[in-house]
Amino acid sequence: MQQQTIAKKNAISSITPDVFKQREQNRLSLFSQTWMQKIPKVFEDIPSYYRAGNIIASLGLWELWVWQFVKTIKLHPKDKVLDVCAGTNCIGIKLLKKQPDISVTAIDRSKEMQEYGKNEAKKSGFNIESIIQDVHQLPFPDNTFDVITLQAASRHLRLDVALPEIYRVLKPGGCFYHCDMLKPSNNILKWLYLNYLHISLPFTACIFSSSKSCCDCKDYFTEVINHFYTTEELSGVMEIIGFSPVTCKKSIWCGMVGFHRAQKLL
Ligand SMILES: C[S@@+](CC[C@H](N)C(=O)[O-])C[C@H]1O[C@@H](n2cnc3c(N)ncnc32)[C@H](O)[C@@H]1O
Repeated sequence: MQQQTIAKKNAISSITPDVFKQREQNRLSLFSQTWMQKIPKVFEDIPSYYRAGNIIASLGLWELWVWQFVKTIKLHPKDKVLDVCAGTNCIGIKLLKKQPDISVTAIDRSKEMQEYGKNEAKKSGFNIESIIQDVHQLPFPDNTFDVITLQAASRHLRLDVALPEIYRVLKPGGCFYHCDMLKPSNNILKWLYLNYLHISLPFTACIFSSSKSCCDCKDYFTEVINHFYTTEELSGVMEIIGFSPVTCKKSIWCGMVGFHRAQKLL
């Protein structure tokens, strides 16, 4: 896997606060109805085949991305960790295996994903506190967590609302770790990638006999990436929110998947 650390300087030049505001308004006008009405129904259907579906749709790369993400996360004894959009608790469980004396709180608005995730944690001998709530408002005081993670969900969120909330509840000096499918910066690769998703997602939905709600969202899953940020732009966004320093790594293919580490100033 090719990895490339992006200089902070490049990230700053790629996006300005005005551009960020416009891009978020555009994403909101395009996707707010899907986010509010359709996405919750999608996640009712998929908990039991979420992992297998991702492995098939990504031709096996999914597990590598999860492993790589968890590897980037630095934990200390007794850390308080918040997993935002925790879904099946895949990340929380892997973090507890890495450092069993941490405490992990999961927040997600899908009861079905979290029920599945709670069960998975129990099977591994861990307890993960679960909060069922929309993550655009986090029910925690300022400066609560040492580490916050967000994996495979940021493209479904309003980043101008969710990221300031994450920043608020992170302790000064604490780290926010992010990983998601991002927009490749190279146009040819972007075209190939989005067209591949157009084929692989309905194929995967067919294999698992997904619900009508999932099948109805097949265009959304490619469109939302097309209107999302590149790895460098997302670094710039995190810097606009106030995180510093922000570092990132790209996966293969010019940033199909990006990994960010963003610190809250001491
Ligand atoms: C791709 S999935 C799960 C990713 C998770 N890291 C995992 O390993 O299972 C994305 C999750 O984001 C959650 N989600 C999306 N929008 C949300 C919102 N506005 N508030 C809370 N959760 C949200 C969904 O319910 C879903 O569980």
